Formats: sequence, structure tokens, C-alpha cells
Amino acid sequence: LNDVEQEKFRPKFHFSPEANWMNDPNGMVYYEGEYHLFFQYYPDSTVWGPMHWGHAVSKDLVDWEEMGIALYPDELGYIFSGSAVADHQNTAGFKSGEHTPLVAIFTHHHDENGEVQSLAFSNDRGRTWEKYENNPVLPNPGIQDFRDPKVMWHEEGGQWIMSLAAKDVIHFYSSPNLKDWTFESEFGKGIGAKGGVWECPDLFEIKGEDGRSKWVLFVSINPGAPNGGSGTQYFTGEFDGKTFAADHQDEKWLDWGTDNYAGVTWANVPKEDGRTLFMGWMNNWLYGDRTPTEGWRGAMTLARELVLVRDQGDDYIAQKPVREFYQKLKPSIESKQVNFNEALAIGSESGFVVKLSGFQESKGDIKIKLFNENGEELLLNLTADKISLDRSSSGETGFHPEFGKIQEMPYRGNNLVDVELVVDASSIEVFINDGLYAMTAQVFNKCPFDKMMVERPDAPGKYSASVYEVPAMS
Ligand code: FRU
Repeated sequence: LNDVEQEKFRPKFHFSPEANWMNDPNGMVYYEGEYHLFFQYYPDSTVWGPMHWGHAVSKDLVDWEEMGIALYPDELGYIFSGSAVADHQNTAGFKSGEHTPLVAIFTHHHDENGEVQSLAFSNDRGRTWEKYENNPVLPNPGIQDFRDPKVMWHEEGGQWIMSLAAKDVIHFYSSPNLKDWTFESEFGKGIGAKGGVWECPDLFEIKGEDGRSKWVLFVSINPGAPNGGSGTQYFTGEFDGKTFAADHQDEKWLDWGTDNYAGVTWANVPKEDGRTLFMGWMNNWLYGDRTPTEGWRGAMTLARELVLVRDQGDDYIAQKPVREFYQKLKPSIESKQVNFNEALAIGSESGFVVKLSGFQESKGDIKIKLFNENGEELLLNLTADKISLDRSSSGETGFHPEFGKIQEMPYRGNNLVDVELVVDASSIEVFINDGLYAMTAQVFNKCPFDKMMVERPDAPGKYSASVYEVPAMS
């Protein structure tokens, strides 16, 4: 393969490892002007294998620099998913220099001995890591799937709280020092989607636009997502320091597209910033190891800001790419009035963002088509009660029988205010009504989509389009 072919489908502005296999984002923590992203990584192949933690650092959540491997498998097992915190009060006693210790809490996965929770720490801003000598800190109680610890400092209780996936429920533990953990409660019996194993929980408090705050529990599930394979459900409710009580029994879905999995939020985002920052693995276990990339496999979603939104009497998480991303965009078409049913040239080699609005009191029945001269097309179909994404003719789809299936998202009949499409070399992220609805999907088109058409046969007129170029990131 020549260089160009080698880099086929390589994202221009989403994080992907330089070489080999990546899955879940891990250990996302902010410290001293740097956002850390660790990730499930197998450095010896483009398919899953003995897991390591890869590492990348960014100052702005957009440009990522890949660092050396942070954690290697050892006699306790592979290094599965987990989280990291900045231990400012040195509660674990790992501090040995001028810096706050960063502490990683992760699962050791061993095929015979099972899954246990362990610690590693860094006293040099995440550059080098040492494993705790008395690992594991949380042994296995006899549950086969017992993993993905997500730890947060619970201000009111003055202690650490860990959410942990235990087969198809979530366990909460507390600790004063990250080393000694006490079981507090279980969540999820008879609640939520149960079509697969629960993984990668995340418990966090989030503020609403109206000043209210809510506790949210993310639970990834594989399989059992609404459009097949893996996906992330969530629950809104209250957490009293020991127990999470959901306001509802049925799951809500964070992202209805097929490719946003195992996402969690950043730890230690400064109070004066106050944002809830998220990133997910832009892939699906259904076909994750068959996607047609060469030399590397797997990318992350853009870093997104999450907000709590009240809609039709219920609480939802809305999401948009972080503002740092928008700050890098270069407008190529600004608020242009475009006729429905007429093609608009949007072409750019390096990825683009399209913002559409001005649909005039529309509840739906609009088709948005991205296409190119190669006959590849990607279709977003909006109706009053359903939005669907059709990538069946979008490029390479034959590597898995279900990849070309149409993806559907229920629509609660809101007035259609805006549609935003973030398109990279092998993905699309769709945000509707300021991110109240989201769909993320991989797309393996061989040529860039350089034209767009918004079809609305019943009520022709004009809509407003802005197109932005996204400069290539490192
Ligand atoms: C989720 C997951 C986690 C696990 C990791 C292994 O995608 O299955 O539950 O820790 O991947 O790589």
C-alpha cells in the first residue's frame, strides 16, 4: 500500500491512534491546562487483543497529541476500562513531588481469575505511571462481568464514589482514599435496557439551563442498543451519596446512531469552567473489528459538551461539540438562502460542518442528502415522529451484513429548528435542535461528499445554510 491508500478513511479532526486497535476512552481527566485521554489499546494488531491504556493529551480538546503507552498488561491481567482523577488532597498518599498525583482506577481482566479493580498513579502530569503495589483494591465478589470503575469526588459526602458495572446492574462503592472501598448500593434490577451486558457506567451531576441540577447515570450496553450492537443508555434522577434513584424505569438513549459507545465524562474540569465534557468511542462492537481501515482501527467522537434540557415534561441530555471546535472553523458559505430540492456545492477535502435552519414551522418531512459524483450518498430523513439515517449507499458497507441497515431515532414532534452535520473522512455526527437529538455514525465513502440537497417536495421555498471548513488537526 502506498501512503495515500494507507491513510484511507483517516479522520482529519477526530482522534484516532496512529497505528493499531483502539476502543473505549478511559481515564479522562483535566490537570494543569491539559486534557488527558487514555484509551483501550492493543499495540500489536488492528483487532482487539491484550488491552493496554494508550494515551493522548490536548490543550483544547480538539488537537490531540498521542503519547506513549501508559499502562501495560501484567500478571493480574489485561488493563480494561476505567477512570482517572487528580487527587488534589493526596487522599491515596501517592504524592512524591510537586505535582498533584493523577490516579487511575481500572479493571484488571484475567481470563481465569476474573475481573478486579486496581490503581496506578503518576506524579509527573501523566507522563509515567506506576501500578499500586497492593493491587487489586477491589476483589471480585463472584460476578463474571465486574468492571469499568468510574470514580468521582462527591463534594457533599466528602468521599470518592465509584460506579462499577456488575453484569446487568451498577454497583456503587465509597472510599476515603481510593484504596479502601465500601459497597453502598446497587442500581438497575428490572430497570432499563437488558439486551446485553452493562458496561462503562458514569455517575455525575449536571446543571440544567434553568439552574436546576440533576444526577445522571450513563450505562453502556452491548448488545441491546436500539439500532443494533452497542450503545449508551442513561437515567436521570437523584443521588444522595449512597443510592441513585432514577426518575424513570425505561432507558433514555444518549445517541441514536450506531457509533457512539462507552463514552464517559471528564474528571476535574475546573469549577470556573463548569462544563460537563464527554467523549465516546465512535464504533460499535457489532462490526468494530471489520471496518475497512488499514494499519489502524477506531476513532473517538469529537469532545462534546453535555447539558440538561427539559423537553415536554422530561429531562434529557443535549450535546454539541465543544466550543473550542467551533472556534477553529472557517466559514465558506454563510447563512445562504437556498432553494429546497436544489443541489448546493459544499465541497471540501478536509471535512466540513453544515448548519441548516429556517425550515419555517416544519415538524419534518425533509430529506437531507449528502452525495458525490461517485454515486455515494448519505441520507437523513426527517418526519414528524422519526428521524432516520441511511448509509446503505454511502460507500463501503459490505464488511458486515448490518452495517448498511437504516438507523432510526424517535422524534417527539418538536418544531425543527436546526440541523447540524459534522462530517469527517469516515464519520458523520448529526445534532438536531441544538443537540437535543444526536446520531453518530461511521461512513466509509471513497470520495468526499461535495454536494448537498435538502428535499421538501410538499412545501418548496428556501432554507438557510452555512458551511464551515474544518482545518486538519494533528
Ligand atoms: C466496553 C468494554 C469494557 C471493557 C473494555 C475491554 O467496550 O467491553 O467493558 O473494559 O471494553 O476492552
